Amino acid sequence: MRLVVLSGSAHPALAEGICTGLGIAAGARELGRFPDGEPRVVVGEPVRGADVYLVQPLGPPADCHLVELLLLADACRRAGAARITAIVPYLAFARQDRRHAEGEPHGARLAADLISARVDLAVAVDVHGSGAEGYFSVPFEHLTALPALAAALSGRFPDPVVVAPDLGAARRAEALGALLDAPTACVHKTRVSPREVQARLVSGEVAGRTPIVVDDMISTGATIEAAVRVLHEASSRDEVIVTATHGLLVEGAVARLGRLGLARVVVSDSLPVARSAQLDVELVSIAPLLVEAIRRLRAGAALTDLRA
Ligand code: R5P
Repeated sequence: MRLVVLSGSAHPALAEGICTGLGIAAGARELGRFPDGEPRVVVGEPVRGADVYLVQPLGPPADCHLVELLLLADACRRAGAARITAIVPYLAFARQDRRHAEGEPHGARLAADLISARVDLAVAVDVHGSGAEGYFSVPFEHLTALPALAAALSGRFPDPVVVAPDLGAARRAEALGALLDAPTACVHKTRVSPREVQARLVSGEVAGRTPIVVDDMISTGATIEAAVRVLHEASSRDEVIVTATHGLLVEGAVARLGRLGLARVVVSDSLPVARSAQLDVELVSIAPLLVEAIRRLRAGAALTDLRA
C-alpha cells in the first residue's frame, strides 16, 4: 500500500522529520481558513488506496488543531484512502479525564470519540493518565518518549535522583529511574486551580543529590516551580534538571522556569517549542520513534518495546 504522510498546521517540522526518516516527501495539502474563520483543508495528494498518516499534535489552540485533524481525515476518507492513522504526539483534552465538579464534561472521552469517528488507528505519545486506550473505539497505540529522554540525560549529572513532581507522575519517574539506574522520589502536590498548585513534602532521599524532575508535560510551569522549592527545602543540590515529553509552556511558563535557574530543561519535540533568551530548552526529537512505529504498523510488527 502506498505510504502518504500529511501534516496539519500544528507542527509541520515534526512531520518533515518523520518524512525524512521514512525517505518520502510530505503529501500535498492546503490548510487555511474560510472568510468566516472556519478551518479549510484540501488534500492535494492522491490518497486512493493509500496508507495515510496524519501528523497533528493537539497543542494550543487544541480545538482548532483537533478540528483540522478531523477535516483532514474526512477528506482522506472521501478520497478513498485505504487506511487512515492519526499520529497525535500530544493528545490534548487528556487531563479532562474525570469530572472534578458537577457540570464538567469528560473531555478526554469526547476527543477520543471524535478522532475514532474518522480514523482507523490512533497513535499518541505519553498521554496524561492511564485510561486513554479505553476511550478510543479504534485501535490505539500509546508510545513513550522516555527512552529518548533518558538517552539525552544519561551520565550527565552527578548523583541523580529522579523526582515525580506529583503522585500522578510516580510511575513515569520509576520508569525513568530504571532507565537511568537512579533512585526515585516523589513530591506531594495538591492542585488548587488550573493555574495554582501547592507542594508540601517530598518522599525519598534527595539531600545532596541532583534532582531530575520528570513530568508528562510542562504547561504553566506551576508544578515544576512548586517541586523545585520543595526539593531545595529538602537540601537537594541547587542544580535541578527538568524533563518532560510535552513542552506546552503556556502563560509565561518560559519566564517562570527561567527565574528558577534550572540547570537544564529537556523536552521532546512533540510540540513546537519557540527559542527564547529567557530559557534554554534542549529538544529531543521523537521523529525516530514515530518513524519506527509507522514502519512496524505497515509491516504488521509488534510495537511492544515502543509502548508507554
Ligand atoms: C498534571 O497532573 C500533569 O501531569 C502536569 O503535572 C501538569 O499538567 C503540569 O501543569 P503546570 O505546568 O501548569 O503545573
